Amino acid sequence: MPPNETIISFSGKTDLDLLFELLRFPSVSTKADHAPHMLACAQWLQALLRESGFETEVCVTGGHPAILARGPHVPGRPTVLIYGHYDVQPAEPLHLWTSPPFEPALRNKRVFARGSTDNKGQILAHILGARHLLREEGTLPVNLIFLIEGEEETGSTHLDDFIRARRNDLRCDVIAISDTGMVAEGYPTLTQSLRGIAAMEVFLRGPVTDLHSGIFGGAVVNPAAALVKILAALHDPRGRVAVPGFYDDVENIPAAEREMLAALPVTEADYQRETGVLLLDGEEGYSSLERIGIRPTAEINGLTSGYQGEGTKTVLPSTASAKLTFRLVPKQKPDRVLNLVEIHLQNLLPPGVEMEIVRGHGGMPYVLDLKSPWCGAAQRALEQTFGRKPALMREGGSIPIVQKFRDLLGSDTLLLGLAAPDCKAHAPDENFPVESFEAGIRLHQHLLRELAAPV
Ligand code: BES
Ligand code: MN
Repeated sequence: MPPNETIISFSGKTDLDLLFELLRFPSVSTKADHAPHMLACAQWLQALLRESGFETEVCVTGGHPAILARGPHVPGRPTVLIYGHYDVQPAEPLHLWTSPPFEPALRNKRVFARGSTDNKGQILAHILGARHLLREEGTLPVNLIFLIEGEEETGSTHLDDFIRARRNDLRCDVIAISDTGMVAEGYPTLTQSLRGIAAMEVFLRGPVTDLHSGIFGGAVVNPAAALVKILAALHDPRGRVAVPGFYDDVENIPAAEREMLAALPVTEADYQRETGVLLLDGEEGYSSLERIGIRPTAEINGLTSGYQGEGTKTVLPSTASAKLTFRLVPKQKPDRVLNLVEIHLQNLLPPGVEMEIVRGHGGMPYVLDLKSPWCGAAQRALEQTFGRKPALMREGGSIPIVQKFRDLLGSDTLLLGLAAPDCKAHAPDENFPVESFEAGIRLHQHLLRELAAPV
């Protein structure tokens, strides 16, 4: 049961205490039985925002609740909407965590917990930046709206309808989000683009039941073998996605853009060190930064078939399935990409197995207009906080709602992320440096001041 919100108290707590408290909610949006934790987490955020001086609401959506908060009205000043998410990815595999994922722990000046970086630490930095400004000055430099949702990690499936329904309450001049990375820890970074995403799950069915692999193997098509065969055909030997038509809408990247990426303070050796792989590999003719930032990809996120337990089992599995996602670049559309993939897989499917495809969430790519005056304000705030000019990064991750904000509210989004390259988002031992948290709180104070008078 969620705690009664009247007993939530924030008095005498430090910023770090508040972060630890927020991280203790196991707000995993994809798991239905975590709904009470989701609600409790939303109520905690609402209570904090209310106590900080915001008018707040925990809003019912078609899924997990969203928190909407509004700061004091400041006539003549722009309206800024800050978006973030309180839901987190599942913490599994649990045995690979050094300390339990929902019992935040401080080691080497970093807070370890699921959601520490993605996105609780980052959204809390925004809230605390505003909270401190309100405490110290009694008002804010801009009209401020917070929208904190609970379904980002599952594709923000109900947020479009919510935005449509509450469009008038969400109208704003600009949006700011901290849910992206820094090119290096403490190196200020403004993210210029996000990739889009299209998700699907492929189910293959062969024999009506699992079979003895000695009695039937060799005479019956094995769905696991069929699955790996069609999945192996997602890429060609040059590392390109082999789905016919996949690149039709992909635009060529101007040389100047590629030069900008090459000049970023990120090297191939950095990627190799962070990932621990023997070899970096991908689409031929592109650097790692380009493969991640400006090229589309196909990834297998999960594979299931046959016996996965200890020891051996001579079974010919009845079914096999895979979870796939495609990262998209400007002009590619999730639906069209999924149509093409479905045709490709169907054409390759060996006879003797049936295929069913279930489509998942989709999201459009986003590219920031660098000429927007809001961009200058964001860059100044980053420079004031970190003491150097920010890098302009093209990120490989996706935040599907960002393009929707532009479509539905007509507002651009500034992406000022605080995630360190080794933050381990979505993985065991996710962590957030205390220094990034504190810098984030200062950054958001600078940001609100700069956005009050953009040039
Ligand atoms: N914070 C990430 C997005 C991100 C990560 C952007 C790194 C840029 C760099 C966000 O919470 C996330 O993980 N989004 C999902 C979206 C999906 C589930 C629809 C993603 O990118 O996988
Ligand atoms: Mn995430």
